[in-house]
Amino acid sequence: MKRIKLLDKEFALSIPASDIKKALWEMASKINAELHDKNPLMICILNGSFMFSADLMKLIDFPCEISFVKLSSYEGMGSTGKVKQLIGLNEKIEGRTVVLLEDIVDTGVTIEKLIGQLNAQNPRDVKVATLLFKPDACKRNVELDYVGLEIPNDFIVGYGLDYDGYGRNLPDIYTVIDY
Ligand code: IMP
Ligand code: MG
Repeated sequence: MKRIKLLDKEFALSIPASDIKKALWEMASKINAELHDKNPLMICILNGSFMFSADLMKLIDFPCEISFVKLSSYEGMGSTGKVKQLIGLNEKIEGRTVVLLEDIVDTGVTIEKLIGQLNAQNPRDVKVATLLFKPDACKRNVELDYVGLEIPNDFIVGYGLDYDGYGRNLPDIYTVIDY
């Protein structure tokens, strides 16, 4: 299995780009079927979701807007449990369907906090599309409308996800090797 090194850690290939592509196709076909008449506003949660959002948007087959928020909760290989908002949302979402595009739902703290903030602006509906979900790490009861792949509770990098800033450019996803 292919291995890489980032900073002080070694990682082994766990999800090849072909599996990511397949998961995106399945997710996009559901979104296309369910939301084509809802004029949804997609919201990419930076930084981790930039690659997932870009690839997913190319598979959306109806006219569709995207905007961006920037949140941060991770340091090194763990969640700090606190969510910092670094860039907020400019668009008005009252009465609109919004779809949050998240790279991974881990503890669920980030997505829960953002859903709470957005709900205060009275949107019609807030949906969540996440490429990855770690069911064994999730401590919050959040409804995930579109999930690409469920994965074990291990630290991963690649396809937008980072280890202290590195690894986001990798087209495949890698899991940290026991240390
Ligand atoms: P949560 O708030 O614990 O659900 O985690 C949210 C954010 O932490 C995600 O959007 C990711 O950006 C980051 N994150 C969670 N798990 C991982 C991981 O395994 N590798 C890299 N980043 C992660
Ligand atoms: Mg993220």
